[in-house]
Amino acid sequence: MTENYDVKDTDLAEGGRRRIVWAEQEMPVLAQVRDRFKQERPLEGLRVSACLHITTETANLMRTLQAGGAEAVLCASNPLSTQDDVAASLVMHYEIPVFGIKGEDRDTYYQHIHSALDHRPKATMDDGADLVSSLHTERSDQLDELVGGTEETTTGVIRLRAMAKDGKLAYPIIAVNDAMTKHFFDNRYGTGQSTIDGIVRATNVLLAGKTFVVAGYGWCGRGLAMRAKGLGANVIVTEVDPLPALEAVMDGFRVMPMTEAAPLADIVCTVTGDINVVDRHHFESMKDGAIIANSGHFNVEINIEALEEMASERRKAREFVDQYILDDGRRLNLLGEGRLINLAAAEGHPASVMDLSFANQALSLEYLMQHRDELEKQVYTIPEAIDREIARLKLESMGIEIDALTEEQVKYLSSWEEGT
Ligand SMILES: NC(=O)c1ccc[n+]([C@@H]2O[C@H](COP(=O)([O-])OP(=O)(O)OC[C@H]3O[C@@H](n4cnc5c(N)ncnc54)[C@H](O)[C@@H]3O)[C@@H](O)[C@H]2O)c1
Repeated sequence: MTENYDVKDTDLAEGGRRRIVWAEQEMPVLAQVRDRFKQERPLEGLRVSACLHITTETANLMRTLQAGGAEAVLCASNPLSTQDDVAASLVMHYEIPVFGIKGEDRDTYYQHIHSALDHRPKATMDDGADLVSSLHTERSDQLDELVGGTEETTTGVIRLRAMAKDGKLAYPIIAVNDAMTKHFFDNRYGTGQSTIDGIVRATNVLLAGKTFVVAGYGWCGRGLAMRAKGLGANVIVTEVDPLPALEAVMDGFRVMPMTEAAPLADIVCTVTGDINVVDRHHFESMKDGAIIANSGHFNVEINIEALEEMASERRKAREFVDQYILDDGRRLNLLGEGRLINLAAAEGHPASVMDLSFANQALSLEYLMQHRDELEKQVYTIPEAIDREIARLKLESMGIEIDALTEEQVKYLSSWEEGT
């Protein structure tokens, strides 16, 4: 057992171990990577600080890094997403130092990031770029020690690309989110299903017949709208970009501005990566009993400050439901303090989809080590060969075969002479 950690209660470890093993069964691609890592040890001695949601799937990623020879520590990438039993098991059974407690306050959250940085990493693994940004702003003396890093999510990649553009990024980062085998599946099917799961666990409402507003029709929004529709909700999409807005229309959804959608909504869920998408003037027109949730990375998509100012009273209606009573008596229900609801009230993405995302994480770290001398201080897209290999392994694990191009087809597809 490791000495260095801050978790809620190490007595929770046994339950955590059972759930880690359960998730492992649904992560065959990562298991194959882990088996190879055990033999080849491509990360031997590499000090890694990871800032990820502390879930059963992340536990299996940490085990994979360890199998590859890495000395890895883990801190939470969100104050509400930590599974305390998993954190305990990583410490007690797998000798991985963990810093994260579900419900920790902002100061503790950043203290935990600093504890992970005390490990003096040579590589970082981030989800939302809080670790990387703390490293650049408060631990710049350590930057020279860094060889590379990876970033899991859309919001983090946007932040890191902004840093690189300003010439501020001090080491190369691979944008795991850019992999097709990440955002196609994790953001769409993972966020789609688990966000519904979070909303239902928090409220136990029936979705059939409800008006469900999805803000943002990106990868996550597409999945969420598709799943809400599948459960019988009337789905409305709001967008700022005409292309995804048009796609939503063609997919059969009503599309309108949030000012028109808000008064119709039984449930609103934001997945934009943007700020104040549901704002004061929207709260003003919402129905009594409306449910407001977010599944985007940060808790800024709903203007909670405005909601607090507008409310004459706030009460805890259920575990993950804060009910704000407005002066005219309307009750607006905010879920999970506006934080990603799939991780706050449910368990995050199912393991099967994280299998792909975390195989990308592990292989990206290996790639960084292999190419450390060639890479610049930039954000890199994951090499296509890794992406295709992960898709191939996943299909293989599902027992699904596909066709291969014939020689004639290869020739045809690479020539321009043959026409009608
Ligand atoms: N909950 C999770 O587990 C989970 C998983 C993956 C990603 N994420 C996060 O979800 C967010 C969205 O990710 P994505 O991959 O779908 O991004 P994306 O870039 O594919 O889509 C975001 C969409 O939101 C739209 N948008 C921006 N501002 C808007 C506004 N004011 N109103 C309406 N639409 C607006 C954009 O035009 C875009 O189409 C990010 O913060 C990402 O980090 C969460």
